[in-house]
Amino acid sequence: MKTADLVFDRSYINGEWVKSGNATFEVINPASGKVVARVADGGSALTEIAIDAAENAFVHWRKTTAKHRSVILEKWNDLILENAAALAEIMTLECGKPLKESLGEVAYGASFIKWFAEEGKRVYGDVIPPHTEDRRLVVIKQPIGVVAAMTPWNFPLAMITRKVAPALAAGCSVIIRPTSESPLTALAIALLAEKAGFPSGVLNVVVGSDSSAMGKVFCESEVVKKISFTGSTRVGQILMEQSAKTLKKLSLELGGNAPFIVFEDADIDKAVEGAMVSKYRNAGQTCICVNRFLVHEKIYDLFTAKLAKAVEKLKVGNGMETGVNIGPLINKKAIETTKYFVADALEKGGELIFGGNAIGDCFFEPTIIGNATKDMKFSTEEIFGPIAPIYKFKTDEEAISMANDTLYGLASYFYSEGVSRCWKVAEALEYGMVGINEGMISTEAAPFGGVKFSGNGREGSKYGIADYLEIKYLCFGNII
Ligand code: SIN
Repeated sequence: MKTADLVFDRSYINGEWVKSGNATFEVINPASGKVVARVADGGSALTEIAIDAAENAFVHWRKTTAKHRSVILEKWNDLILENAAALAEIMTLECGKPLKESLGEVAYGASFIKWFAEEGKRVYGDVIPPHTEDRRLVVIKQPIGVVAAMTPWNFPLAMITRKVAPALAAGCSVIIRPTSESPLTALAIALLAEKAGFPSGVLNVVVGSDSSAMGKVFCESEVVKKISFTGSTRVGQILMEQSAKTLKKLSLELGGNAPFIVFEDADIDKAVEGAMVSKYRNAGQTCICVNRFLVHEKIYDLFTAKLAKAVEKLKVGNGMETGVNIGPLINKKAIETTKYFVADALEKGGELIFGGNAIGDCFFEPTIIGNATKDMKFSTEEIFGPIAPIYKFKTDEEAISMANDTLYGLASYFYSEGVSRCWKVAEALEYGMVGINEGMISTEAAPFGGVKFSGNGREGSKYGIADYLEIKYLCFGNII
């Protein structure tokens, strides 16, 4: 299909393209500040309607076989891959990431659909040895019910599929509420879901600008049994508070403050390679991007010099242009926050090793700041931009304590050639994910998620479907 055939300006509910009233919101191209589309604001009204649609559809969808659902999911995966070029273009227009990264995200996003199309067929129960002769104990797993997926702009496709593919495979119906910065990719894949054969109401996308109001509707609904959210820790806390009354289950993939430790026995070239992918992917705007480089004092100069040399080669610009590695930041506020982090660090004694400036209103130079210290703002706050702060350490204990000295616990990384050090450090890091001599850890086959203020639940892998299932115990008595 052509890109234009995949662009929609309103919500997709119960198999129809719908709007409520005349209110619209603008989708802005972060690379130019220009309006890409005006989209009908669904707001709370359509959120309620989408919940009703999903509730009705669940009645039938839950009864279909896992094999039947798998066939439709496989078809959705195929259609997404067939339309990769158009989807990548839409994605780059609304979130700014370089086209090559958008294409990578299409493949990454589709991989969750493919994975859960298979995994859904393996939702096994259990037969438990009974405690009396006349009983038989069995465990079955059933879909949890209507699921709301609230998704971010930094991965407009993959964060949707990572949530809804397991939900759909388990037999749940879903309502997707993509962030208002990037609704277009979500709407485009809704059309492909329809073409793949999902019955009306099984997959709904409601678009709107008032995330708080829409989120509250989900939280307070007794029909919605589960919310899966990716975004800030603060919003995760609000959703949890608001969900208390309905005792809703929540999966929360929240902020991070990823350390990247380089020990003195590390292969420095490999560490620099890993640092580049884990820091500068999507211009530093992922939850698992490195927030703090912790480098042993003996190799600090060498690592810093090599990192600066690699960063020098990055091309900043509009993600639609070939050869661009660093696209725009999502909005002006992000540019201001990034400027603030740099100014704060320099004022507190940080050494500007590379970059440090905004380029116009939309872009920021990849930046390296040496001699970073704990009192700098980015030590405790998520950067979500292309700044690489480098801290020095002397001992393993110090490195581990610095790495764990944060409220967050999503991703962490370290480089060392020593097997026992690798085991010991991996076990000591208080994080949901640890990259050991590896900077790119994301894959549909592994559990993605965090501890502490980074949230709960795991997405992807064999574990990622559990959050969408209820366990039911059957006790057969009087078997004589
Ligand atoms: C995220 O930033 O939340 C997702 C990153 C990933 O899946 O690799």
